[in-house]
Amino acid sequence: MLPCQRHLFDIPDDVAYFNCAYMSPLMKSAVEAGTAGLARKARPWQITSDQYFSGPEEFREMASQFFDCESDCIAIVPSASYGIGAAAKNLPLKKGQSVLVLAEQFPSHYYPWKRLAAENGGALKLVPWPENYDWTAAVLSALTPEVAIAALPHVQWTSGGKLDLVRIGEACRKIGAALALDLTQSLGVLPFSVRDVQPDFAVAASYKWMLAPYTVGMLYVAPKWHDGKPLEEGWIQRNNSRDFSSLTLYSDGYDSGARRFDMGERSNFALLPAAVRAMKQILEWDISLISETIGGQNRQLASAAAELGFNSPPENLRGPHYLCLQKEKGVPPGLSEKLAREKVYVSVRGNSIRIAPHLYNSARDVKRVIECLQRLDGA
Ligand SMILES: Cc1ncc(COP(=O)(O)O)c(C=O)c1O
Repeated sequence: MLPCQRHLFDIPDDVAYFNCAYMSPLMKSAVEAGTAGLARKARPWQITSDQYFSGPEEFREMASQFFDCESDCIAIVPSASYGIGAAAKNLPLKKGQSVLVLAEQFPSHYYPWKRLAAENGGALKLVPWPENYDWTAAVLSALTPEVAIAALPHVQWTSGGKLDLVRIGEACRKIGAALALDLTQSLGVLPFSVRDVQPDFAVAASYKWMLAPYTVGMLYVAPKWHDGKPLEEGWIQRNNSRDFSSLTLYSDGYDSGARRFDMGERSNFALLPAAVRAMKQILEWDISLISETIGGQNRQLASAAAELGFNSPPENLRGPHYLCLQKEKGVPPGLSEKLAREKVYVSVRGNSIRIAPHLYNSARDVKRVIECLQRLDGA
């Protein structure tokens, strides 16, 4: 278990922020790194052409540790939707085949597949919401031979249900289905390894559990797709980009590995240093320890909420960091607004109250959220 890390964040004492799944606060050190990066643009004559490459390479190297892959397999993307767009542009789908998605899947991981299916005479196949919260069993029984692409998360975002991606990856390989993952609600807080799961593409927006700024994301691209088609055809993704004076000697070749999938203007001098600072801190804490520590808080919250009549997935079937509370009659109207008036911050998603702590949450915060639920539920 890790001690509370609130001192590293700029969070007033009276704020109990349980909304990391919406947007994490930036650490003070990340704000400093980002501010220093932004200030460099005040003196562009001091920015060298080398720095268009060194910052992104440092980011790629750090990001690769979260996927357990070579840095060559990482592309820098602005959003989950961008990464999934790249996956959908490359993964083949034939007439009559289907793309598997979960019930209530996040829209950025739904619309691109819907379009791909529509354009190729294929279909979207929806895994129905499992009443027993066992998303893994539900996915495994839906992985029938006509599924060409399984488009899945590690944690289903409106239930907190966790998928066993190692077993699902194995099942996909058995039927020859590709695997495209959205890890936005899990990377940085739930251990993950591409060696075990073997996805084709896996993306994460970093402004939640990676504790990074908005508009910085990372895309894992398996080596077999490194010669695929990127979403954009920019200059910096080409193999002649280091020589700024000769860019119009157009090249047919791309830079190596997954770099062709980088977004335009990926050398963001303000955002990348802040993201790198956050990644360093997460790795220093250790992802398993973060998960265990936050998981302890959610365990306490789940049992207090159960006494008030809220259901949540059993602990072995949910992400430890991600607690969704449901009531038969639905979420009491206006509950999250009432909590916010008390400076207790949670989200309502679908029919769930979503509680998403991080290491800045103290034992006092946990007590406050329980006390508020007791007092305001139904009030
Ligand atoms: C599961 C999931 N994926 C992705 C995102 C963000 O998507 P995008 O980066 O396309 O804005 C969110 C944001 O709430 C999310 O919950």
